[in-house]
Amino acid sequence: MKNFRIYPSNSGLTGPHEVPGDKSISHRCVIFGSIANGESNFKNLLLGEDVHATMNAFRACGIQIDQTDNNVKIHGKGLFGLKPPERPIHCGNSGTSMRLLSGLFAGQSFETVLHGDDSLSARPMLRVVKPLRLMGASIELSESNTAPIVIHPTRHLCPITWKLPVASAQVKSAVLLAGMFAYGQTSVIESQLTRNHTGTLLQSFGCDVRRRNGKISISGRTELTGQDILVPADFSSAAFFIVAALLNPGSDLTLESVGINPTRSGLLTVLEAMGGSFEYLNKRELGRELVCDLRVRSCEGLSGTAVDPSIIPTMIDEIPILAIAAAAAKGQTVLTGCADLRNKESDRIQSTCRGLEALNISVQENADGMIIDGGQFSGGTVDSYGDHRIAMSFAIAGSIASSPVVVNNVDCVSTSFPGFARCAADIGLKLEVTASAWNAFSHRYNWWSGWVGQKYSWTEIVAEVRLEISG
Ligand code: S3P
Repeated sequence: MKNFRIYPSNSGLTGPHEVPGDKSISHRCVIFGSIANGESNFKNLLLGEDVHATMNAFRACGIQIDQTDNNVKIHGKGLFGLKPPERPIHCGNSGTSMRLLSGLFAGQSFETVLHGDDSLSARPMLRVVKPLRLMGASIELSESNTAPIVIHPTRHLCPITWKLPVASAQVKSAVLLAGMFAYGQTSVIESQLTRNHTGTLLQSFGCDVRRRNGKISISGRTELTGQDILVPADFSSAAFFIVAALLNPGSDLTLESVGINPTRSGLLTVLEAMGGSFEYLNKRELGRELVCDLRVRSCEGLSGTAVDPSIIPTMIDEIPILAIAAAAAKGQTVLTGCADLRNKESDRIQSTCRGLEALNISVQENADGMIIDGGQFSGGTVDSYGDHRIAMSFAIAGSIASSPVVVNNVDCVSTSFPGFARCAADIGLKLEVTASAWNAFSHRYNWWSGWVGQKYSWTEIVAEVRLEISG
């Protein structure tokens, strides 16, 4: 198991820097590339563990995926070109893989089983399965409505109009993906705007997508055509360095080609309301996604704010890093309307509050949010709870703490931001990655044994261990 040890920075963060490709867009590129006709080429695709889980699902269904660095070529086989997988599909830690693939496999004529790691196996899945069952899919969940998800073969699905009971782009996307296999128009109505990548990418791949007053509709059974797409840098990964640059005096950092799709970049609006300012350089469109080179300079001092709950879905993954900014601001920050954070890779309300307390910040945990009193981070030890965004957020807290901060259990960071530690060091953060040999072995052992019978046999695992030792 690895840990981060972060020392207070004594100089500003600088550079042009580009963080890896967008995770949400990368998952969708792999999905649509696989069910399109012909080749798709994706540049700057995120090759974190979560997107690998999605790629492996399609490889298991007979799709050829070639990878050179972060450029990926997918040989799509059309809407009905997937082969039945021989084994259950392991989604690892990735909620996006599990929920979006549930929608896709709901429309197939073969059985699929989706399962995940301990964290994913505790996350609610009825929110996706309920509308899919209404469309005619036959799906089983565990007694607690969690994974494993068993999706039985379906002859045909019926289109539906589904009003989202919870603001969730994953649920919206699952319904639209299932709708691709139904005759007619499938619609999703949302009362709060969530990320719109599924609709915009489906349009790029040739599907007729209509949007009106919070309702998005797609035409089922449209054949998609392979595309060449350059994936923008991930706003959610950039967010850690945006806050780090605002908080570290003397910083002047430009984050290049970063996605600023308004359904994703609510954090900038909140940070601006708190007193931060940004330069949006070279604004342009990459495909249908708005990007810019975002210049961030350190700010004299942020002030606490009451965050409008209607903006939360556009910054749902950025609440932990916003909490770090709020803890360093003058006054109080009030977060409400975030109850769904309790259903993420960890209970993010709880893990954020415990981390803040460990660093001597006063915080009140509420059912649907938290109230943070700005102060000074002390040094200390924080647990990531196995959650990548918690690990990276508290690494940034360490850069402005009064003494070093250790964040335990940070292997999870590679689900969304492989190379985080190197990028952090490149821009001037003082971050070390530490691991004890025994911890490293036992972590890998658990991981390997988790795969036995699901993906690899012991013989294959022993071969991998030998390779690791020799290489
Ligand atoms: C995602 C949607 C969000 C977000 C997740 C990625 C997506 O989840 O938290 O990291 O790619 O659709 P919810 O749909 O559960 O809000």
